[in-house]
Amino acid sequence: MCVLLPLALCALVASCQAVSPPQQSLGPLPLLSRACNDVDVLGVAGLALQDINRDRKDGYVLSLNRVNDVREHRQNGLGSLFYLTLDVLETSCHVLSRKAWKDCGERHFHESVYGQCKAVFYINRPRRVLYLPAYNCTLRPVARRRIQFTCPDCPGPINPSYPQVLEAATQSLAKYNNESTSKQYSLVKVTRASSQWVFGPSYFVEYLIKESPCAKSQDSSCSLQPSDSEPVGLCTGSLSRRHLEKWVSVSCNFFEAQAPAPGGEKSAVNQGPESLPKVEEPQKKDLDPTPSPSKAVPRGSVQYLPDLNKSEDLDEVTPEDFEGKNPHEALPVQLDLTTNPQGETLDVSSLFLGPTEKLVVLPFPKGLRSAECPGPAQKDNPLVLPP
Ligand SMILES: *[C@@H]1O[C@H](CO)[C@@H](O)[C@H](O)[C@H]1NC(C)=O
Ligand SMILES: *[C@@H]1O[C@H](CO)[C@@H](O)[C@H](O)[C@H]1NC(C)=O
Repeated sequence: MCVLLPLALCALVASCQAVSPPQQSLGPLPLLSRACNDVDVLGVAGLALQDINRDRKDGYVLSLNRVNDVREHRQNGLGSLFYLTLDVLETSCHVLSRKAWKDCGERHFHESVYGQCKAVFYINRPRRVLYLPAYNCTLRPVARRRIQFTCPDCPGPINPSYPQVLEAATQSLAKYNNESTSKQYSLVKVTRASSQWVFGPSYFVEYLIKESPCAKSQDSSCSLQPSDSEPVGLCTGSLSRRHLEKWVSVSCNFFEAQAPAPGGEKSAVNQGPESLPKVEEPQKKDLDPTPSPSKAVPRGSVQYLPDLNKSEDLDEVTPEDFEGKNPHEALPVQLDLTTNPQGETLDVSSLFLGPTEKLVVLPFPKGLRSAECPGPAQKDNPLVLPP
């Protein structure tokens, strides 16, 4: 009896220590549901998409069609992390133009590319910090066979590597160069191509150009010269034929002066030191006091899915197709910064000038959406809305 009592006390003390104190101080706050058309949420979504566009090197600027889902995770006096699911549309601006998505033109329905992005976005208003730790997007063109139904004569996409496409690009650029009084330009790559039969074949192309070192008189003889200059603009052109006649059109838009030097800093809203904040497991932090070298992990990527219906029979259009319910049309977007349900810490000290600051990142919410979601769409055609 005399021996048992201290033991029991000991066990009691130990269990008390084990249970209560640490959990309370560190316990993550719950994820909050927010309304998808809340002005604040739309603002955050717009900023996140702007950062996604800025991070990209290829493709077209994405615009926000609607907020599909949103959660806010308040961070104990350090602002909030937002988990955003955004339904997006490709615009007509190339990402290298660095234009804001709101300033970019819409695409015609028959050339729509739509998709979804998931993003984790950090905002700390009092300290004026905005930061996009991670994103991933998946895009897909509107199914060809659906366009065929509403617009059988619309131009259809073709493989940009076809020789006819290259010919259309070179001929339209030659026309541009011929009319240009000063500089000459050369083709970087075709970014989009479509074709249509009118009185003969017509090819429509979009391509990036760079400044050519060639003088106007030198013609093609110097086109093989290496040139590491950056793309300076995006041209749209066409080449149409009817018997022996041909028509060429061209129009080019030049990008604003390229701000960041090659290999220079990231264009994050808040330019901290070069190292990106990295996710680390909380248990390890005490064992490893020296900061590990910054892994230049890409913060995200954009995946393009092909037109799934291309190979299928064009006549087999089902009612589900028009309601955007075709199960084949799912747009999987994966964004997992952690699988630990308790979350992991994300060191964002580099965004602040002060002491070490850590956020808690949770697994990206799955399953049920926030109550007032998705929000209203700018373009509510079900064919350009992810399921
Ligand atoms: C180049 O421009 C001149 C005059 O502007 C025109 O006469 C000529 O046909 C053009 N050549 C080509 C290949 O477009
Ligand atoms: C982003 O998507 C790619 C390709 O689908 C995937 O490999 C990667 O793990 C995703 N990133 C995150 C953080 O989940």
